[in-house]
Amino acid sequence: MNALNGVSLTAQSGRVTAVLGANGAGKTTLLRTISGLVPSTSGRVVRDGQDITKLSVEAKPPLGLFQVPEGRGVVTELTIEENLKLGGLSRADQSKPAEIDRIYVMFPVLGTRRDAAALVLPGGERQMLFIGRALLAMPQVLAADSNLRHAYLGF
Ligand SMILES: Nc1ncnc2c1ncn2[C@@H]1O[C@H](COP(=O)(O)OP(=O)(O)OP(=O)(O)O)[C@@H](O)[C@H]1O
Ligand SMILES: [Mg+2]
Repeated sequence: MNALNGVSLTAQSGRVTAVLGANGAGKTTLLRTISGLVPSTSGRVVRDGQDITKLSVEAKPPLGLFQVPEGRGVVTELTIEENLKLGGLSRADQSKPAEIDRIYVMFPVLGTRRDAAALVLPGGERQMLFIGRALLAMPQVLAADSNLRHAYLGF
């Protein structure tokens, strides 16, 4: 049985595209299919005219495609700032302090606790941290899975 049938959407550059749906509707499956974690039986994922349906998961971040999984992905033993720095590791030039400061402006609660272990953060703030970390990778496409109880709608 397929979790997704007849899904078609276009995300435009410079815009936020939202997919809303009830629990179990298939939002996570859609994002995992786009990133390649779930193989598709039919259909296509196209980015800038290039068919990326069959590209491996690992091949996508170097192309600027990143996914933020729901409620996971923060390294709880590291501080908030160390977690943010991880985001720049995939870049040849790494992240600069001013870029990290921009994340603290976007998510002030992270700035006030930057030297605390990420373990102390509740779920919604972990999601902010993971989004901040993904932004420091300078993604061209950021696919963020979220849950309303963790939703942050401030950007
Ligand atoms: N690994 C899996 N194996 C089998 N069925 C799965 C698997 N993952 C999800 N499903 C099923 O696929 C459907 C879509 O689930 P999915 O997790 O994509 O929904 P969702 O919209 O993200 O829900 P939520 O709002 O709870 O996060 C559900 O019926 C779910 O039970
Ligand atoms: Mg989900």
